[in-house]
Amino acid sequence: MSTDDAGMSNPCGKKAPAGYSSAIETHELTRKFGEFTAVDSISLHVTAGRIFGLIGPNGAGKTTTIKMLTTLLEPSSGTAKIAGFDVRSSSKEVRKRIGYVPQMLSADGGLTAYENLMLSAKLYGMKRSDRKARLEEALNFMNLRESSNKLVKTYSGGMIRRLELAQAMLHMPAVLFLDEPTIGLDPVARRVVWERLMAMKEEYGMTILITTHDMEEADRLCDEIALMHRGKITISGTPADLKTSVGTDVNLDDVFVHYSGGIIEEGGNYRDVRKTRRTANRLA
Ligand SMILES: Nc1ncnc2c1ncn2[C@@H]1O[C@H](COP(=O)(O)OP(=O)(O)O)[C@@H](O)[C@H]1O
Ligand SMILES: [Mg+2]
Repeated sequence: MSTDDAGMSNPCGKKAPAGYSSAIETHELTRKFGEFTAVDSISLHVTAGRIFGLIGPNGAGKTTTIKMLTTLLEPSSGTAKIAGFDVRSSSKEVRKRIGYVPQMLSADGGLTAYENLMLSAKLYGMKRSDRKARLEEALNFMNLRESSNKLVKTYSGGMIRRLELAQAMLHMPAVLFLDEPTIGLDPVARRVVWERLMAMKEEYGMTILITTHDMEEADRLCDEIALMHRGKITISGTPADLKTSVGTDVNLDDVFVHYSGGIIEEGGNYRDVRKTRRTANRLA
C-alpha cells in the first residue's frame, strides 16, 4: 500500500527568502527576565533535515530558547531566523513553517484524537478539502488510526504524545520544536516516539529541535547537540565528537558531567536527579 496518496511529502516546499541557508540560525540570542539572564547570547546553526538536541539541566534556558524561536517570547537582544525568516520582523512567516509540542500536555482529554486533530487543522487554517486526507495520514503515521475515535483521556502517555506529534505535523512544518517530548513516558513508549521522530526526519525531511535532559535520548536521536548550562551553550557538535572530546570509552552522561561540572542547581548530581525522575515516572 502506498502511503504517499495524500501528497504530504516535501514539507520544505514553502518558499524561503533569498540567502536561506539553515533551518534555524541564531546570533547572540538573549532573553532577560529583569536582571536575570535566562538565555545568554547563544549562537546556533541547525542544518535543514537534521535532528538537533538542546541538552541541559532544569533551568538551563531550553524552554525560553524554544519560546523565542517559536515567536512566543520576544528576544531581549540578538537575532533568530527560522527557515530564513526573522522571528521578530517576520513572525507570521515563521509561524506558518513551524510546529510546536510544548513541555506540558496540550491535547484535550475530553475530545477524541480525531476531534483534537480537526481543531488543529482549523487552527492552522488548512483548506477544508485537504483536512480529511491529512488527518488520516497523520493518524496512520503515528499509529493512532484504530483509537482515533476514543476520548484522549483514556489514552496512555505514549499515545497522547504521539497525538500531539500528529497535531504538530498536520500542516507539514519545515521545523518542528519539541520540548522534552518523552518526559514521563515508560521506556517502550519512549522508543516508539524516537522511532516516529526519526521517520519524520527521514520520510518528510523535517528539521526537528528537541530539548531533553536525557542523555540516552540525545545520543540515539540527535545528529547534533548543544549543551546548555545557565543560559549559555557550553559545547556543541555530534554526539560522537563530544564523546571524543572528553576521552575514550565515554558516554554522553560523562560528557555532560565534564562540561557542566555535574552540579545541578536543585542540588545533587545529574545521575541522581535522573534516577529520581525515572522512578517518579515509573510510578506516575
Ligand atoms: N517568565 C519568567 N519570568 C522569570 N523567570 C523565568 C521565566 N521563565 C523562565 N524563567 C527562568 O529562566 C530560567 C530558565 O528557564 P527555562 O527556560 O524554563 O529552563 P529549562 O527549560 O532549561 O528548564 C530559569 O531560572 C527560570 O526560572
Ligand atoms: Mg523546560
